[in-house]
Parts: sequence; structure tokens; C-alpha cells
Amino acid sequence: MRKLICTPFFIALLAGSAHAQKKTIAQRVDSVIRLMTLDEKIGQMNQYNGDWEATGPITKDGDKQDQIRRGRLGSMLNVTGVEHTRQLQEIAMGSRLKIPLLFGQDIIHGYRTTFPIPLAEAASWDLDAIEGSAHVAARECAAAGVHWTFAPMVDIARDPRWGRVMEGAGEDPYLGSCIARARVLGFQGKKLGDTDAVMACAKHFAAYGAAIGGRDYNSVDMSLRTLWEVYLPPFKAAEEAGAATFMNSFNDLNGIPATGNAYLQRDVLKGKWKFRGFVVSDWGSVGEMINHGYARDNKEAALEAVTAGCDMDMESRSYIGNMAALVREGKVGIGLIDDAVRRILTKKFELGLFDDPFRFCNVQREQQQWNNPENLRIEQEMAKKSIVLLKNDNQLLPLSRQTRTIALIGPLVKSVRENLGFWSYDWADDSARIVSTWDGIQKKLGSGTHLLYAKGCGITDTSRAGFAEAIETAKQADVVILDIGEARDMTGEAKSRSNIHLPGVQEELVRAVCSTGKPVVVLIGAGRPLIFNYTAEHAGAILYTWWLGTKAGNAIADVLFGDYNPSGKLPISFPRTEGQIPVYYAHFSTGRPSKNDSDVNYVSAYTDLHNGPRYPFGYGLSYTHFEYSALRLSAATFRPGGKLTATVTLTNTGKFDGRETVQWYVRDLVGSVVRPVKELKGFEQVFLKAGESKDLSFTIDADKLRFYNDKLEYLYEPGEFRLFVGGDSQNVKEIPFTLIAGR
Ligand code: BGC
Repeated sequence: MRKLICTPFFIALLAGSAHAQKKTIAQRVDSVIRLMTLDEKIGQMNQYNGDWEATGPITKDGDKQDQIRRGRLGSMLNVTGVEHTRQLQEIAMGSRLKIPLLFGQDIIHGYRTTFPIPLAEAASWDLDAIEGSAHVAARECAAAGVHWTFAPMVDIARDPRWGRVMEGAGEDPYLGSCIARARVLGFQGKKLGDTDAVMACAKHFAAYGAAIGGRDYNSVDMSLRTLWEVYLPPFKAAEEAGAATFMNSFNDLNGIPATGNAYLQRDVLKGKWKFRGFVVSDWGSVGEMINHGYARDNKEAALEAVTAGCDMDMESRSYIGNMAALVREGKVGIGLIDDAVRRILTKKFELGLFDDPFRFCNVQREQQQWNNPENLRIEQEMAKKSIVLLKNDNQLLPLSRQTRTIALIGPLVKSVRENLGFWSYDWADDSARIVSTWDGIQKKLGSGTHLLYAKGCGITDTSRAGFAEAIETAKQADVVILDIGEARDMTGEAKSRSNIHLPGVQEELVRAVCSTGKPVVVLIGAGRPLIFNYTAEHAGAILYTWWLGTKAGNAIADVLFGDYNPSGKLPISFPRTEGQIPVYYAHFSTGRPSKNDSDVNYVSAYTDLHNGPRYPFGYGLSYTHFEYSALRLSAATFRPGGKLTATVTLTNTGKFDGRETVQWYVRDLVGSVVRPVKELKGFEQVFLKAGESKDLSFTIDADKLRFYNDKLEYLYEPGEFRLFVGGDSQNVKEIPFTLIAGR
């Protein structure tokens, strides 16, 4: 009897008929599960990589194709394009139960249109723009057959030696949570199943960003209080925003690999947070538990991972090879398998794949999204907002369009692919479509300006042979623009570095060019906070341009010549030297705090360094100047259940219209556990015309004062607090307030 109903005809009927439409997704999933053999169920929990062939991203691997045919594969990554995804989906449609494949891809900051790297976008603090950027990425890749992006990465990162700092939103749990939410909403659009939406994947669960020493894949050892207070909030925000999937991580957390960590996946994510989506492992991380010394072999690794709540095995082949035996031996209950399969199939139903497996394979839509001008326009806007002005002595910027001669010097001036950064895709026509700094500036200026060029040196070279030409070129110019920084593969996965100074001899090039006495504007293109002390002290102006994507050069030119007044604010502190890492603004108060930047005597400080970072969290200048005044409160005290309103007057006292990100921080002065010296609790972006003033308000209630005590209770404690407001985490106005016990 069972055999009889398991025909492809029946399942097709079940999945797609009008009768089936009336059933809930849960009922439809259950009816499919009832038809599945154990091997087919385990197949759904198995994910393989597609192979990038010379002709495109498709697997030609006969074994993989055969496994699709036999229902032994539920998902693939790195297969894109309507043609290729269709070919493989057709094979899946030839399998016994016709369960559609799920195609996943790392769409980290764009697909065809490359957006600024996520850390750069975070510098915009513009949640609508960030959501919009994720949505364009979703629209483009969904049109190319992709159902699922392995993004956003929501790992808090406080160590710029860690190469993956580029993929996240920086050091702060509050900003990180806001951005996590924006990205999930952007990727997933109005609802899964729409053809401009893909499933998001909050990764890497959890605490991967705290890898010891910033060394990728390294262990993480942290208190549960720090985990809950700093590292988990962005994941919680992603979950609340409806993230369809989570990815676990390579690191161990306090001795338990995240992939086999039942506390994280079962107790917290699926238990306390009631997450209904599914968890995918990181690449090979199930099998890597053997290297961790946590599992004896692949079989034990599969047992640990599935028990801990990892539903899909990416590329370890631990599940496909061992799970059936584990079930037969009674080590893994069928309930566990059914739960994982139910979660995966539910998403396939929600995406509409059971109704139409080729739903995302539409040639016309793919063509419409290819070089779509609207997507490129949105990218350029995002790029402008991501640039951070770090220094602008004597209002060197913006430059006048009437400048007679400008020297463009440095290894990044004419670079094209470097602008894309890590986690970006190469297309054959990239050199024609990506805008370099040179191209962007040339296009902006008319023939009245003479542009000169010298490379000076390579990115990582040690040769100074080009310095003489650079100096000569600088001497002929009215102003010099130096474009320096990192190569795109210097920051990213597996790109941890112990030395994060400007690479090669680039800072010597800055010194050589500055020696000409010409005004020097430095652009720094990089994926992480770099160290550039000479430049910070001697250049006239500095713009941090990160890796800005397809239209980088246009965005840079807009900012240089004042068509866009820079508004970016650093989402991560910039250290003065590697020995200062980790340096972050929300550190605890010690018993011996330093009084100021140069107080190093028997206080918690390095005796050979200024105490603060080179540039603090939240920092970023504008061509105009914003003044904060008249900070006041609606009352000096309040009780739980009540609230206080703080108001500050913001005035644009400069000559340019501009946008400011007003940042509100709180300090809990005395707690049952030591509290950070400042914590970001809110921010608002406001555009003011030159000379304009505006009152801005912020509401404080007891919930905003919650923290985790030593029993991991999330509570507030009555007492005295300080409220700060300013344009960065250091330069603030402050006012005290009190939370009184009782209602
Ligand atoms: C990375 C993940 C990524 C996966 C698939 C892993 O190496 O850690 O972030 O999603 O590969 O490409």
C-alpha cells in the first residue's frame, strides 16, 4: 500500500493541486514526510557545493547529479543563473518524490551589482538604505535562480585583525541589531515566495567574531553574560525579523564546537527563541568537529551535530554517510530527523517551490535585473553614504571643480576589481563596468582641470622605485589625491592579519608626497580598520572609502567635489596599533580608570600609547559643523512603567547643508555587575540646512536600561545613570537621571 502511494504522480498531485492549496503548509509538509524513505529524508539534510566550471557555475559532477536523481540531495550552493539552476532542478524533478532543490549562495553585498562591503554600509547608519541594498541584492540573485543567501553575517567584531570584520556591522550590539533586522527585511522582502525575495541566513551562530586573537576559525572563550549582552542580540534581532535560516559556526564556544552546541541551537535558538526555520552547518563544520577533538569520526560528528540542532550538513557528507546507521542503531530518533526535514521542507513550500520548482528560473526576469540602471543608482547612493570623513584640516575638502591641476597618485587610483572587495563575483566585463577613482573624477571634471597620474608603488610591494615620479607629479599639481589601501583579498574569510598597518610602502609614499608641501587628500580603501598613524597626523584630509562596489569612483568623486557632504560614522573603533586591540568604546570601567588620553600612571593603560583609539566608534566628520546644545530632560527622575524625554538642540553652524547621526548613549553608574562606560541606546539621522537648528528627542524607559546580571536575568536596577548625546561616542554632552524603585 505504502509503495503504491509513493509515486511521483501522487506527490505532484499532493503538492500542486487545488486541493493541496487549501491545506496549510504544515499539512502539506507532513503529507510529504509520510511518503519519504529514511534515505530521502537524510537527503534533504544534505547540501553540496556546485562546481564552478570554466563555462559557469554548475556541477558537472556525475555523482552529485546521480544523488539528486536518487533524492539524496536537498540543496546546493554556488549554482547560479537561470540556465544552470534549471538544469539541476530538472534532474530533481526526475527523482521519485520530485522534491525541489534549494539553491543557496553567498550574496553578501550584491550579486551582479556589487554594493559596498557590509562594514562600509554599516558606516552609513542608514537603516532604510541598508535594507534597500539587501533588497536589490535579493532581487538580482532571485532572478538568477537563487533562493537563499548566506547573509547577513551578524557577528559582533571587536578585533580588526579578524578578516571577517568586513562582513558584519562592527562592534556594537545595538547598531548591529538594527542592521541585522534591516538586512533580513531587505533580503526577505514582503514575504518568502515573492520572486524578489530570498531566504536570509543569520550567521555565524554564535560568537564567531570573538575568535581569540582575531585568528579565523579560532576558539572563543567568553562569559555567558558577555555572550548574551554583546554577541547574541543581533541574532535575536534577525530571528525576530523573521530570518528563515541560521548558520552555525566554525569556532568552539567555551569548549563546545558551535556546530555541536546544543545550548546554542536547541536551548536558545529553537527553545527559548522558538525559531521555526532551519539551521545549516558552516562549510564542513560538522566534520571539523573531528579536528576539534570533539568527535572521533564523521559518524560521531553527525550524531553530535543533529542532536545539537543542526538540520543541514553543508559539504561534510557526515549526514549522508552516517545518519541512516545512527537511526537504525537507535542513537538518533526518527523524531529528530523528521523535525529537521519538516523545517527544511516548510521553507521549500514557503518559497513556492513545490507549486513551481522553476519559479525563480525566468530568463526575462534575469535579463531585466542584469545591469539594471535603478540597481546601479541605488548602489551609488549607498556608496556615498558609506564614506567616512576622518580629517579635514582647514576645510581642504570639498575640492573646487575649478582646480587647475590635480595629481592622482597611488596603487588604487586606477584599480577596478579592488573596489569590489571580498565576497564579490567576477564577471567577464568587470573592467568596463566598474568605476575606478580615476574614471569617476575624470567624468566629474570638465576639460578645465588637468589630471596627472602616478602609481607610486604597488599595494604590497616593497619597491620605492616609483616614489620619484610620484613626487615630481605632485609638485606639478595644485592638490594631490592619494588613493591607497588594501587589495580585495587581504580582508575576508581566512584573511586574518597580525599586521594591519597600511600594507607595503604605501605610508612611506604618503610621507614622500607630503614632503612636497602640496595639499594632500588621502583616500583609504580597505575592508577593515587599518593603522595609518603618519597619514592621520600629516595628511590634510582623509576619506575612508572602504570597498565601495561597482560605482565606487562616482561616489568618491561626488564626495571629493562636494556634490555629497559626507555623513558616514565609524561602526568600529580604529586602533592606534595592533597592541591596543581589542579597543572598543563600551568597555567596563576598571578600578583604575585613566582620567584622559595621556594618563598612564598606575591606571589601566599602556605606558607607551595614548589611551583612546585613533578614531572612536561613531566618529565621522562633515563638511559642515554640528553643534549640540541645551541638553535637557522632561524630569530628573522616573519610575519603572514611566519614562523620561531627553531633548537636545542640534544646530548646523557651518556653511554646508548636511546630515548628522545623533547618537544617544547611557551609563549605569552603579550596578550589581560592572557596567560599560557607555552603551549606545538609540540614534537618529537628521538633515539640516546651513544655519538651521532642530530639537531632537529621545525617550528613556526602564526597558532601555536592562542588562544581564550574574544569574543571566535580564533586568534593570534602580539607581543613577548618565545620558550622553553627540556625534560620536567620545565627544558628547551629558546629563544625569535617576530610576527610582517601585511603580
Ligand atoms: C563561510 C560561510 C559561507 C560558507 C559557504 C564558509 O566558509 O564561513 O560564511 O556562507 O562558506 O560559502
